[in-house]
Amino acid sequence: MPAGLSVEIDPGTSLLEAAQSMGLPVAQACGSEGICARCGMQILEGGESLPPEGENERRAKERNRVPENLRLACQIWPADDLSVTTPYWSEQ
Ligand code: FES
Repeated sequence: MPAGLSVEIDPGTSLLEAAQSMGLPVAQACGSEGICARCGMQILEGGESLPPEGENERRAKERNRVPENLRLACQIWPADDLSVTTPYWSEQ
């Protein structure tokens, strides 16, 4: 999401990089280091294919008061189809 946009990615491409490759803005302030937690995205479909949240991701979200249901896009390397969104994409 936004509806109608999709992209195929090479292995090793993060969710953040995939979104940016489509020209979608992604909030970030740490250079994809998994620290700022601003790149949180809601996984709408396909979340079962992702590894569980790691300790670093959990701590970054907790420290930055990021809602539980968001995953850090710079810390996810999709291996299967995902559908994701952010609140600010729907405002465009
Ligand atoms: S860009 Fe900072 S945690 Fe993802």
